[in-house]
Amino acid sequence: MTDDKLNLSKLKGKIVAIDGPAGSGKSTTARLLAARLGFTYLDTGAMYRAVTWYALKSGIDPAAGDKLGEMASTMPLEFTTKAEVNRVLVGEHDVTTDIRSPEVTLHVSEVSAHKSVRKAMVARQQQMGKKGSIVAEGRDTTTVVFPQADIKIYLDANTRTRAERRLLDLERMGINSSVEEQEADIIRRDKHDSGRTHSPLTKAEDAHIVDTSNLTIEGQVARIIELIRSVVK
Ligand code: DC
Repeated sequence: MTDDKLNLSKLKGKIVAIDGPAGSGKSTTARLLAARLGFTYLDTGAMYRAVTWYALKSGIDPAAGDKLGEMASTMPLEFTTKAEVNRVLVGEHDVTTDIRSPEVTLHVSEVSAHKSVRKAMVARQQQMGKKGSIVAEGRDTTTVVFPQADIKIYLDANTRTRAERRLLDLERMGINSSVEEQEADIIRRDKHDSGRTHSPLTKAEDAHIVDTSNLTIEGQVARIIELIRSVVK
């Protein structure tokens, strides 16, 4: 599948939303897809991670919903692209790597489950997507943030494959772990993210389901481009 078969002018302004559990390949796929389409890439998980990082740094209890909600709507949070790498900034702090730390990962499910935090984040995400031409990924981008998205994808993969991918990501950041530890963490987070009261991870009725267990990154992107072509002719 080559990109020149995509009608980029027809795609302008469209919203592509990708949801799925941790390690399903959302981030890499969404980033590559956005680059191919010339769209903005919105990593909503990074936003919840940044809130969690800021809360831990400021000594705010991950259980304190009201305080966290207020912080989430007022904290300085910015995405930039430097040397083709997407960076996350909280004020003057570049937190791109820190938001992937085991400590943030441990607390992010609890922080992101608060209604007040979600309300603040969703408002910011919708603002960022106002002009369209965006690929957003997360847990509720197809259902809550952009229910009007032009193309909705639900990415999935088995837990072992997802754990292996997470382990590789951590190794690249110099963090030691094991596949067993990562698989246990993924199962824990799946349960939390799918079982919470506010905006749980669910498959939107009109989402295209793509199982990435046996797909390469290139294969995942190609499959989604194929889906986009079938929807936007
Ligand atoms: O995709 P990720 O692992 O970086 O996401 C981190 C956490 O943020 C994840 O455990 C659930 C939460 N999250 C969420 O609740 N809603 C989103 N749209 C994206 C992520």
